Amino acid sequence: MRLSVLIALAFISLTSEAQEITFYHDIAPIIHKHCTACHRPNKAGPFSLITYDDVAKHSKMIEYVTQTHYMPPWKADTIYRKFLDQRILNQHEIDLFSKWVKANSPEGAKEKNYSEPVFYDSSAFGKPDLVLKLSEPFRVKGNNRDTVVFFELPYQLTNDTNVMALEFVPGNPRVVHHSNTKVIYTEFVPPEHCWDFMAPDSILDMNTVYYDGWVPGAFPRVWPEGIGFRIPKYGMVLLQIHYAPSPIEEFDQSYLNVYFTDKKIYRRLDVFNIGTSGGIAEPEPELVLPPESIDTFWVKAEVAKDLSYLYLNPHMHRLGKEMKAFAVTPENDTIPLVWIKDWDYRWQDFYKPETMLKIPECSVIHVFAVFDNTAANPANPCNPPCLVRAGANTSEEMMSLIIASVPYENGDEIIPLK
Ligand code: HEC
Repeated sequence: MRLSVLIALAFISLTSEAQEITFYHDIAPIIHKHCTACHRPNKAGPFSLITYDDVAKHSKMIEYVTQTHYMPPWKADTIYRKFLDQRILNQHEIDLFSKWVKANSPEGAKEKNYSEPVFYDSSAFGKPDLVLKLSEPFRVKGNNRDTVVFFELPYQLTNDTNVMALEFVPGNPRVVHHSNTKVIYTEFVPPEHCWDFMAPDSILDMNTVYYDGWVPGAFPRVWPEGIGFRIPKYGMVLLQIHYAPSPIEEFDQSYLNVYFTDKKIYRRLDVFNIGTSGGIAEPEPELVLPPESIDTFWVKAEVAKDLSYLYLNPHMHRLGKEMKAFAVTPENDTIPLVWIKDWDYRWQDFYKPETMLKIPECSVIHVFAVFDNTAANPANPCNPPCLVRAGANTSEEMMSLIIASVPYENGDEIIPLK
Protein backbone atom coordinates (compact mmCIF):
# COMPACT_ATOMS: atom_id res chain seq x y z
CA MET A 1 0.00 0.00 0.00
CA ARG A 2 2.66 2.48 1.15
CA LEU A 3 4.94 1.43 -1.65
CA SER A 4 2.33 1.95 -4.33
CA VAL A 5 1.64 5.47 -3.02
CA LEU A 6 5.35 6.19 -3.19
CA ILE A 7 5.61 4.83 -6.70
CA ALA A 8 2.62 6.91 -7.75
CA LEU A 9 4.20 10.02 -6.22
CA ALA A 10 7.51 9.33 -7.92
CA PHE A 11 5.67 8.93 -11.18
CA ILE A 12 3.82 12.20 -10.79
CA SER A 13 7.00 14.12 -10.01
CA LEU A 14 8.82 12.43 -12.91
CA THR A 15 6.14 13.36 -15.40
CA SER A 16 5.92 16.96 -14.23
CA GLU A 17 9.72 17.28 -14.33
CA ALA A 18 9.79 15.82 -17.78
CA GLN A 19 7.08 18.10 -19.09
CA GLU A 20 8.57 20.82 -21.22
CA ILE A 21 8.21 24.41 -20.05
CA THR A 22 6.97 26.46 -22.98
CA PHE A 23 6.24 30.10 -23.63
CA TYR A 24 2.53 29.73 -24.25
CA HIS A 25 1.88 27.30 -21.45
CA ASP A 26 4.06 28.67 -18.64
CA ILE A 27 5.75 31.95 -19.44
CA ALA A 28 3.16 34.07 -21.24
CA PRO A 29 0.67 34.04 -18.33
CA ILE A 30 3.34 35.37 -15.94
CA ILE A 31 4.66 37.97 -18.37
CA HIS A 32 1.20 39.24 -19.26
CA LYS A 33 0.15 39.46 -15.63
CA HIS A 34 3.30 41.00 -14.16
CA CYS A 35 5.26 42.74 -16.91
CA THR A 36 3.17 43.88 -19.88
CA ALA A 37 1.40 46.75 -18.07
CA CYS A 38 4.71 48.65 -18.24
CA HIS A 39 6.46 46.78 -21.05
CA ARG A 40 4.38 47.73 -24.07
CA PRO A 41 4.58 50.47 -26.67
CA ASN A 42 4.98 53.99 -25.24
CA LYS A 43 5.08 52.87 -21.62
CA ALA A 44 7.83 53.14 -19.02
CA GLY A 45 9.47 49.78 -19.76
CA PRO A 46 12.31 50.17 -22.31
CA PHE A 47 10.93 47.44 -24.60
CA SER A 48 7.69 45.51 -25.08
CA LEU A 49 7.11 42.15 -23.46
CA ILE A 50 4.02 40.79 -25.16
CA THR A 51 4.76 38.25 -27.87
CA TYR A 52 7.01 35.19 -27.94
CA ASP A 53 9.61 37.10 -29.98
CA ASP A 54 9.62 40.05 -27.54
CA VAL A 55 10.27 37.78 -24.62
CA ALA A 56 12.66 35.31 -26.27
CA LYS A 57 14.84 38.20 -27.42
CA HIS A 58 15.35 39.35 -23.81
CA SER A 59 15.15 35.97 -22.10
CA LYS A 60 18.63 35.98 -20.51
CA MET A 61 18.10 39.45 -19.12
CA ILE A 62 14.64 38.49 -17.89
CA GLU A 63 16.12 35.55 -16.02
CA TYR A 64 18.63 37.89 -14.40
CA VAL A 65 16.23 40.69 -13.44
CA THR A 66 13.66 38.30 -11.99
CA GLN A 67 16.22 36.35 -9.96
CA THR A 68 17.68 39.53 -8.52
CA HIS A 69 14.14 40.85 -7.82
CA TYR A 70 14.93 43.96 -9.85
CA MET A 71 11.80 43.33 -11.91
CA PRO A 72 8.93 43.66 -11.48
CA PRO A 73 9.83 46.70 -9.40
CA TRP A 74 8.43 46.41 -5.88
CA LYS A 75 10.34 47.64 -2.91
CA ALA A 76 8.33 46.84 0.23
CA ASP A 77 9.00 43.59 2.10
CA THR A 78 5.89 41.45 1.60
CA ILE A 79 6.50 39.25 4.64
CA TYR A 80 6.63 42.26 6.96
CA ARG A 81 3.33 43.54 5.56
CA LYS A 82 1.21 42.41 2.65
CA PHE A 83 -0.16 45.12 0.35
CA LEU A 84 -2.74 45.47 -2.36
CA ASP A 85 -1.55 45.16 -5.99
CA GLN A 86 1.85 43.78 -5.00
CA ARG A 87 4.05 43.54 -8.06
CA ILE A 88 6.00 40.46 -7.11
CA LEU A 89 6.72 36.99 -8.44
CA ASN A 90 6.77 33.90 -6.22
CA GLN A 91 9.78 31.58 -6.20
CA HIS A 92 8.01 29.06 -8.43
CA GLU A 93 7.49 31.71 -11.12
CA ILE A 94 11.09 32.91 -10.86
CA ASP A 95 12.31 29.31 -11.22
CA LEU A 96 10.10 28.79 -14.27
CA PHE A 97 11.90 31.64 -16.07
CA SER A 98 15.28 30.05 -15.28
CA LYS A 99 14.25 26.59 -16.41
CA TRP A 100 12.73 27.98 -19.58
CA VAL A 101 15.89 29.91 -20.45
CA LYS A 102 18.08 26.85 -19.75
CA ALA A 103 15.88 24.81 -22.11
CA ASN A 104 16.56 27.40 -24.86
CA SER A 105 13.26 29.25 -24.53
CA PRO A 106 10.89 26.85 -26.32
CA GLU A 107 7.81 28.46 -27.84
CA GLY A 108 5.37 25.51 -27.65
CA ALA A 109 1.90 25.49 -29.11
CA LYS A 110 -0.58 28.29 -28.49
CA GLU A 111 -3.02 27.33 -25.77
CA LYS A 112 -6.62 27.12 -26.97
CA ASN A 113 -7.70 30.20 -25.05
CA TYR A 114 -4.48 32.16 -25.55
CA SER A 115 -4.88 35.88 -25.93
CA GLU A 116 -2.72 38.92 -25.44
CA PRO A 117 -3.78 41.27 -22.66
CA VAL A 118 -5.84 44.35 -23.43
CA PHE A 119 -5.24 47.57 -21.49
CA TYR A 120 -7.46 50.59 -21.24
CA ASP A 121 -5.29 53.67 -21.14
CA SER A 122 -7.90 56.32 -21.11
CA SER A 123 -9.60 57.28 -17.91
CA ALA A 124 -10.52 54.60 -15.38
CA PHE A 125 -13.73 56.36 -14.28
CA GLY A 126 -15.22 57.94 -17.40
CA LYS A 127 -15.57 61.63 -18.16
CA PRO A 128 -13.80 63.82 -15.60
CA ASP A 129 -15.43 66.91 -14.08
CA LEU A 130 -12.22 68.92 -14.19
CA VAL A 131 -9.04 68.44 -16.18
CA LEU A 132 -5.88 70.18 -15.05
CA LYS A 133 -3.30 70.11 -17.77
CA LEU A 134 0.05 71.78 -18.43
CA SER A 135 -0.77 74.61 -20.80
CA GLU A 136 2.04 73.63 -23.11
CA PRO A 137 4.22 70.54 -23.49
CA PHE A 138 7.29 70.44 -21.27
CA ARG A 139 10.58 69.73 -23.06
CA VAL A 140 12.64 66.93 -21.49
CA LYS A 141 16.21 67.43 -22.66
CA GLY A 142 17.91 64.46 -24.27
CA ASN A 143 20.83 64.60 -21.84
CA ASN A 144 20.49 61.20 -20.15
CA ARG A 145 19.83 62.82 -16.78
CA ASP A 146 16.98 62.63 -14.30
CA THR A 147 14.88 65.78 -14.28
CA VAL A 148 12.50 66.84 -11.51
CA VAL A 149 10.03 69.63 -12.24
CA PHE A 150 7.31 71.29 -10.18
CA PHE A 151 4.29 72.56 -12.07
CA GLU A 152 1.79 74.84 -10.43
CA LEU A 153 -1.68 74.39 -11.91
CA PRO A 154 -4.23 76.89 -10.57
CA TYR A 155 -7.99 76.36 -10.83
CA GLN A 156 -11.20 78.09 -9.86
CA LEU A 157 -14.61 76.56 -9.08
CA THR A 158 -17.92 78.07 -8.04
CA ASN A 159 -17.83 76.41 -4.59
CA ASP A 160 -15.71 74.18 -2.40
CA THR A 161 -16.30 70.74 -3.92
CA ASN A 162 -16.30 67.09 -2.81
CA VAL A 163 -13.88 64.92 -4.72
CA MET A 164 -14.16 61.20 -5.16
CA ALA A 165 -11.00 60.49 -7.15
CA LEU A 166 -8.03 62.16 -8.72
CA GLU A 167 -6.31 60.45 -11.60
CA PHE A 168 -2.86 61.32 -12.92
CA VAL A 169 -2.48 60.62 -16.65
CA PRO A 170 1.13 60.65 -17.85
CA GLY A 171 1.37 62.52 -21.15
CA ASN A 172 4.49 60.73 -22.30
CA PRO A 173 4.88 57.47 -20.36
CA ARG A 174 8.27 56.82 -21.93
CA VAL A 175 9.79 59.52 -19.74
CA VAL A 176 7.36 60.18 -16.87
CA HIS A 177 8.82 58.10 -14.07
CA HIS A 178 6.75 59.22 -11.14
CA SER A 179 4.62 62.11 -10.00
CA ASN A 180 3.32 63.57 -6.77
CA THR A 181 0.21 65.67 -6.56
CA LYS A 182 -0.55 68.15 -3.83
CA VAL A 183 -3.75 70.19 -3.71
CA ILE A 184 -3.18 73.51 -2.00
CA TYR A 185 -5.60 76.03 -0.59
CA THR A 186 -5.30 79.61 -1.89
CA GLU A 187 -7.40 82.74 -1.50
CA PHE A 188 -7.18 83.82 -5.10
CA VAL A 189 -6.21 82.25 -8.41
CA PRO A 190 -2.44 82.41 -8.85
CA PRO A 191 -0.77 82.30 -12.27
CA GLU A 192 0.51 79.08 -13.79
CA HIS A 193 4.18 78.42 -13.11
CA CYS A 194 6.90 75.86 -13.43
CA TRP A 195 10.14 75.43 -11.49
CA ASP A 196 13.18 73.26 -11.94
CA PHE A 197 13.30 70.96 -8.91
CA MET A 198 11.33 72.97 -6.43
CA ALA A 199 8.64 75.44 -5.74
CA PRO A 200 9.64 78.16 -3.25
CA ASP A 201 9.03 77.51 0.47
CA SER A 202 6.31 80.16 0.55
CA ILE A 203 4.22 77.85 -1.63
CA LEU A 204 5.27 74.55 -0.12
CA ASP A 205 4.35 75.79 3.36
CA MET A 206 0.78 76.55 2.30
CA ASN A 207 -2.13 74.53 3.57
CA THR A 208 -2.13 71.11 1.88
CA VAL A 209 -5.58 69.73 1.23
CA TYR A 210 -4.61 66.48 -0.41
CA TYR A 211 -1.54 64.52 -1.45
CA ASP A 212 -1.17 61.53 -3.74
CA GLY A 213 1.21 60.05 -6.23
CA TRP A 214 1.71 57.84 -9.24
CA VAL A 215 4.35 55.40 -10.52
CA PRO A 216 4.17 53.42 -13.80
CA GLY A 217 1.73 50.56 -13.50
CA ALA A 218 -0.14 52.15 -10.56
CA PHE A 219 -3.94 52.15 -10.55
CA PRO A 220 -5.98 55.22 -9.68
CA ARG A 221 -8.07 54.68 -6.58
CA VAL A 222 -11.60 55.23 -5.45
CA TRP A 223 -12.06 55.12 -1.72
CA PRO A 224 -14.71 53.14 0.15
CA GLU A 225 -18.15 54.75 0.48
CA GLY A 226 -18.21 58.09 2.25
CA ILE A 227 -14.46 58.68 2.08
CA GLY A 228 -13.04 61.49 -0.02
CA PHE A 229 -11.74 64.98 0.28
CA ARG A 230 -12.90 68.47 -0.38
CA ILE A 231 -11.05 70.86 -2.62
CA PRO A 232 -11.32 74.59 -2.03
CA LYS A 233 -13.04 76.91 -4.49
CA TYR A 234 -9.75 78.63 -5.29
CA GLY A 235 -6.73 76.45 -5.22
CA MET A 236 -3.88 75.06 -7.08
CA VAL A 237 -2.37 71.73 -7.74
CA LEU A 238 1.33 71.35 -7.29
CA LEU A 239 2.36 68.60 -9.63
CA GLN A 240 5.87 67.27 -9.22
CA ILE A 241 7.07 65.11 -12.07
CA HIS A 242 10.25 63.06 -12.11
CA TYR A 243 11.35 62.47 -15.70
CA ALA A 244 13.60 59.48 -16.33
CA PRO A 245 16.89 60.00 -18.20
CA SER A 246 16.39 60.10 -21.95
CA PRO A 247 18.98 59.96 -24.72
CA ILE A 248 16.71 61.98 -27.02
CA GLU A 249 14.59 65.08 -26.56
CA GLU A 250 11.02 64.24 -25.48
CA PHE A 251 7.89 66.28 -24.80
CA ASP A 252 5.34 65.72 -22.09
CA GLN A 253 1.94 67.21 -21.37
CA SER A 254 0.67 65.20 -18.42
CA TYR A 255 -2.64 66.00 -16.77
CA LEU A 256 -4.94 65.29 -13.87
CA ASN A 257 -8.55 64.16 -14.11
CA VAL A 258 -10.62 65.24 -11.14
CA TYR A 259 -13.92 63.49 -10.36
CA PHE A 260 -16.45 65.30 -8.21
CA THR A 261 -19.17 63.59 -6.22
CA ASP A 262 -22.61 64.66 -4.98
CA LYS A 263 -22.55 61.91 -2.38
CA LYS A 264 -21.90 63.02 1.12
CA ILE A 265 -18.31 62.71 2.19
CA TYR A 266 -18.57 62.08 5.89
CA ARG A 267 -15.08 60.74 6.38
CA ARG A 268 -12.55 63.35 5.36
CA LEU A 269 -9.23 61.95 4.21
CA ASP A 270 -6.35 63.44 6.12
CA VAL A 271 -2.78 63.21 4.90
CA PHE A 272 0.05 63.81 7.34
CA ASN A 273 3.79 63.52 7.13
CA ILE A 274 6.08 62.22 9.85
CA GLY A 275 9.59 63.53 9.23
CA THR A 276 11.35 66.35 7.42
CA SER A 277 9.82 69.04 5.17
CA GLY A 278 6.82 70.07 7.19
CA GLY A 279 6.27 66.81 9.06
CA ILE A 280 4.57 66.54 12.45
CA ALA A 281 7.87 65.39 14.03
CA GLU A 282 11.53 65.81 13.14
CA PRO A 283 14.14 63.05 13.00
CA GLU A 284 16.71 62.47 15.71
CA PRO A 285 19.48 63.30 15.37
CA GLU A 286 18.92 66.18 12.97
CA LEU A 287 19.13 64.98 9.36
CA VAL A 288 22.68 66.02 8.44
CA LEU A 289 24.79 63.64 6.36
CA PRO A 290 28.54 64.27 6.41
CA PRO A 291 30.52 62.94 3.44
CA GLU A 292 31.50 59.26 3.67
CA SER A 293 28.98 58.51 6.44
CA ILE A 294 26.30 55.83 6.82
CA ASP A 295 23.85 56.92 9.51
CA THR A 296 20.53 55.84 11.00
CA PHE A 297 17.83 58.34 11.97
CA TRP A 298 14.68 57.90 13.98
CA VAL A 299 11.45 59.82 14.13
CA LYS A 300 8.37 59.05 16.19
CA ALA A 301 4.92 60.54 16.51
CA GLU A 302 1.94 59.73 18.70
CA VAL A 303 -1.47 59.08 17.20
CA ALA A 304 -4.00 61.24 19.04
CA LYS A 305 -7.13 59.25 18.17
CA ASP A 306 -8.03 55.90 16.62
CA LEU A 307 -7.40 56.08 12.90
CA SER A 308 -7.59 53.81 9.87
CA TYR A 309 -4.89 54.22 7.36
CA LEU A 310 -5.44 53.95 3.61
CA TYR A 311 -1.97 54.29 2.19
CA LEU A 312 1.63 54.91 3.14
CA ASN A 313 4.24 56.67 1.09
CA PRO A 314 7.81 56.34 2.37
CA HIS A 315 9.90 59.12 0.91
CA MET A 316 13.65 59.72 0.71
CA HIS A 317 15.94 60.90 -2.07
CA ARG A 318 19.01 59.23 -3.51
CA LEU A 319 21.04 58.64 -0.36
CA GLY A 320 18.26 56.64 1.29
CA LYS A 321 19.11 52.97 1.83
CA GLU A 322 16.44 51.57 4.11
CA MET A 323 13.24 52.63 5.83
CA LYS A 324 11.21 50.74 8.39
CA ALA A 325 8.02 51.93 10.07
CA PHE A 326 5.79 50.37 12.69
CA ALA A 327 3.31 51.45 15.32
CA VAL A 328 3.47 50.39 18.96
CA THR A 329 0.09 50.34 20.70
CA PRO A 330 -0.49 51.29 24.37
CA GLU A 331 -0.72 47.52 25.04
CA ASN A 332 2.77 47.19 23.57
CA ASP A 333 1.65 45.33 20.45
CA THR A 334 3.61 46.11 17.32
CA ILE A 335 1.77 46.84 14.07
CA PRO A 336 4.16 46.49 11.12
CA LEU A 337 3.60 49.31 8.62
CA VAL A 338 6.24 49.11 5.91
CA TRP A 339 9.83 47.95 5.51
CA ILE A 340 11.95 48.82 2.50
CA LYS A 341 15.30 47.10 2.74
CA ASP A 342 16.86 48.34 -0.47
CA TRP A 343 15.47 51.79 -1.15
CA ASP A 344 15.47 52.93 -4.77
CA TYR A 345 14.39 56.55 -5.25
CA ARG A 346 13.01 55.66 -8.68
CA TRP A 347 10.24 53.49 -7.26
CA GLN A 348 8.27 55.59 -4.80
CA ASP A 349 5.09 53.71 -4.25
CA PHE A 350 1.91 54.48 -2.39
CA TYR A 351 1.46 51.29 -0.40
CA LYS A 352 -2.10 50.30 0.38
CA PRO A 353 -3.01 47.63 2.95
CA GLU A 354 -5.55 45.05 1.78
CA THR A 355 -8.19 46.37 4.14
CA MET A 356 -8.29 49.62 6.08
CA LEU A 357 -5.84 49.24 8.89
CA LYS A 358 -6.48 50.49 12.39
CA ILE A 359 -3.87 52.30 14.45
CA PRO A 360 -5.32 52.73 17.95
CA GLU A 361 -5.32 55.95 19.92
CA CYS A 362 -2.08 56.71 21.81
CA SER A 363 -0.04 54.37 19.62
CA VAL A 364 3.39 55.66 18.70
CA ILE A 365 4.51 55.42 15.09
CA HIS A 366 8.24 54.86 14.75
CA VAL A 367 10.18 55.39 11.55
CA PHE A 368 13.82 54.39 11.12
CA ALA A 369 15.85 55.26 8.05
CA VAL A 370 19.41 54.61 6.95
CA PHE A 371 21.26 56.98 4.61
CA ASP A 372 24.45 56.14 2.74
CA ASN A 373 26.48 59.18 1.80
CA THR A 374 29.59 57.26 0.74
CA ALA A 375 31.16 57.14 -2.70
CA ALA A 376 30.18 53.44 -2.78
CA ASN A 377 26.50 54.41 -3.14
CA PRO A 378 25.96 54.40 -6.92
CA ALA A 379 22.95 56.75 -6.56
CA ASN A 380 25.04 59.45 -4.80
CA PRO A 381 24.62 62.60 -6.93
CA CYS A 382 27.82 64.14 -5.47
CA ASN A 383 31.18 62.77 -6.48
CA PRO A 384 33.16 62.98 -4.23
CA PRO A 385 30.35 62.93 -1.60
CA CYS A 386 29.38 66.33 -0.15
CA LEU A 387 27.72 67.49 3.05
CA VAL A 388 23.96 66.98 2.64
CA ARG A 389 21.22 68.54 4.77
CA ALA A 390 17.47 68.14 4.97
CA GLY A 391 15.51 69.87 2.23
CA ALA A 392 13.18 69.17 -0.65
CA ASN A 393 15.71 69.72 -3.47
CA THR A 394 16.92 66.54 -5.09
CA SER A 395 20.45 67.48 -3.98
CA GLU A 396 19.20 67.58 -0.37
CA GLU A 397 17.65 64.71 1.57
CA MET A 398 14.22 63.93 2.95
CA MET A 399 13.05 61.39 5.47
CA SER A 400 9.28 61.26 5.53
CA LEU A 401 6.56 58.76 6.00
CA ILE A 402 3.39 60.12 4.50
CA ILE A 403 0.19 58.57 5.82
CA ALA A 404 -3.32 59.00 4.45
CA SER A 405 -5.95 58.19 7.04
CA VAL A 406 -9.51 58.69 8.21
CA PRO A 407 -10.83 58.60 11.79
CA TYR A 408 -11.45 54.96 12.71
CA GLU A 409 -14.97 53.51 12.63
CA ASN A 410 -16.10 50.10 13.87
CA GLY A 411 -15.62 47.42 11.25
CA ASP A 412 -12.99 49.26 9.17
CA GLU A 413 -10.70 46.24 9.47
CA ILE A 414 -12.93 44.27 7.11
CA ILE A 415 -13.48 47.00 4.53
CA PRO A 416 -11.35 46.04 1.52
CA LEU A 417 -9.48 48.72 -0.41
CA LYS A 418 -9.65 48.60 -4.19
C1 HEC B 1 5.82 49.08 -12.95
C2 HEC B 1 6.37 49.01 -14.26
C3 HEC B 1 7.18 47.79 -14.65
C4 HEC B 1 6.82 46.47 -14.48
C5 HEC B 1 5.55 45.91 -13.89
C6 HEC B 1 7.91 45.70 -15.03
N1 HEC B 1 8.90 46.53 -15.51
FE1 HEC B 1 10.68 45.96 -16.33
N2 HEC B 1 11.24 47.89 -16.45
C7 HEC B 1 10.48 48.98 -16.12
C8 HEC B 1 11.26 50.20 -16.30
C9 HEC B 1 10.78 51.62 -16.06
C10 HEC B 1 12.53 49.80 -16.76
C11 HEC B 1 13.72 50.72 -17.08
C12 HEC B 1 14.76 50.64 -16.01
C13 HEC B 1 14.34 51.22 -14.68
O1 HEC B 1 13.70 52.28 -14.63
O2 HEC B 1 14.68 50.60 -13.65
C14 HEC B 1 12.49 48.34 -16.84
C15 HEC B 1 13.56 47.56 -17.24
C16 HEC B 1 13.49 46.18 -17.46
C17 HEC B 1 14.56 45.39 -18.02
C18 HEC B 1 15.92 45.91 -18.47
C19 HEC B 1 16.84 45.98 -17.29
C20 HEC B 1 18.13 46.65 -17.65
O3 HEC B 1 19.04 46.58 -16.80
O4 HEC B 1 18.24 47.26 -18.72
C21 HEC B 1 14.11 44.09 -18.08
C22 HEC B 1 14.85 42.87 -18.63
C23 HEC B 1 12.78 44.08 -17.53
N3 HEC B 1 12.43 45.37 -17.17
C24 HEC B 1 11.99 42.95 -17.41
C25 HEC B 1 10.76 42.92 -16.76
C26 HEC B 1 10.02 41.72 -16.48
C27 HEC B 1 10.43 40.32 -16.90
C28 HEC B 1 8.91 42.09 -15.81
C29 HEC B 1 7.81 41.21 -15.26
C30 HEC B 1 8.21 40.06 -14.52
C31 HEC B 1 8.93 43.54 -15.68
N4 HEC B 1 10.08 44.00 -16.26
C32 HEC B 1 7.94 44.30 -15.05
C33 HEC B 1 9.18 48.96 -15.65
C34 HEC B 1 8.49 47.81 -15.28
